[in-house]
Amino acid sequence: MYSKPKKIGNLEIKNRFVRSATYEGMATEEGHVTDKLVELYKKLAEGGVGLIITGYAYVQQSGIAFDTQMGVYNDDLIPGLSKIADIVHKYSQDCKIALQIVHCGRQSRHLEKTLAPSAVLDKLTRKMPKEMTVEEIKETIEAFAQAIRRTKEAGFDAIQLHGAHGYLLSEFLSPYTNKRTDEYGGSTERRIKVVEDIYNRSIELVGKDFPILIKMNGDDFLEGGLTVEESKKIAEKLSKLGFAAIEISGCMWEVCKRSKKELGWKSTFVPESRMLIGTKNEPAYNLPSAKEIKKVIDVPLILVGGINSLDLVKQILTEGSADFVSLCRPLIREPDLPNRWLKGIGESKVECIYCNGCMSSLVTTGIRCVKKEP
Ligand SMILES: Cc1cc2nc3c(=O)[nH]c(=O)nc-3n(C[C@H](O)[C@H](O)[C@H](O)COP(=O)(O)O)c2cc1C
Repeated sequence: MYSKPKKIGNLEIKNRFVRSATYEGMATEEGHVTDKLVELYKKLAEGGVGLIITGYAYVQQSGIAFDTQMGVYNDDLIPGLSKIADIVHKYSQDCKIALQIVHCGRQSRHLEKTLAPSAVLDKLTRKMPKEMTVEEIKETIEAFAQAIRRTKEAGFDAIQLHGAHGYLLSEFLSPYTNKRTDEYGGSTERRIKVVEDIYNRSIELVGKDFPILIKMNGDDFLEGGLTVEESKKIAEKLSKLGFAAIEISGCMWEVCKRSKKELGWKSTFVPESRMLIGTKNEPAYNLPSAKEIKKVIDVPLILVGGINSLDLVKQILTEGSADFVSLCRPLIREPDLPNRWLKGIGESKVECIYCNGCMSSLVTTGIRCVKKEP
């Protein structure tokens, strides 16, 4: 089952393994691609994964999170991005690659002044973002669409909008962060509008055949935020609009504020990457939302979060709760995990212990496994 190809839009994915977007900390200060980045993606392509989704690349400088983050905000960045698409296709012709694009909104940690749909205090960073004007929203919509054009020109097979984890698009979708009363806020329909506008403008530039994916929260895990009842409606609408696949995740960074006490998670940060899966936290922790959302969408569903064994992959795919499984930390530890599983080598369990030690490598060496004893 996990070795069977399946299409995302017109794109054939050779197996059911996806590399979930993982910020790499390896770009230049202007967001240009480096040799280190090219090497990272070569290794992943060789490791057997069907679809690689890159770390988040920012579409506008007002939406940057880190100063070693990839950018896709102007045409000068295209040649560098091409190097990543080319190496993946060279080393594994049938491995596909999508660029993930983002505006980090009020979670633009690198910036003093942040933008968001509404001026809602970020209780984690203690920053009060500026509410975007309609003109600023329209500029950001155009920036996303132009980024998608650049991604296609750079030779990528697809793109993914980062609409999860409390970044700008997630902030528009969520009633917790979107308090607008104009055409971009209020009802579920109006909170979706920004994503809809990006999609509609993008297909004018790249056509309907270039697969546009989205990663979104099934649940914000914040009181007053998105719950699965509403995310089902959003996913259904986006699938009808033309999104080629939907990846289901959960959380906003602000959840960190209450994670220890209320949720009993050990981590005080990175809520979307829960720690110690299978010991402290549930494996496949977004599966309950995915199961509900799967009932209402007619495009492939990609499930991410704590997928820690091949036995679990088999169960998820066999019961039809998802069409693809997506892995982040296990592939930092073992970039060749898909090949290992496909060839039946070793344990069903991943080697990753979900300690989040990899997070510390981001600001020093760039992403790598730094296993911490729990
Ligand atoms: C080091 C690191 C970087 C991440 N970067 C991104 C990112 O750029 N975009 C994104 O959507 N999610 C990002 N995530 C979240 C993962 O894609 C994924 O949703 C989460 O880690 C759960 O999957 P896992 O249990 O397989 O690690 C990151 C997670 C980690 C640990």
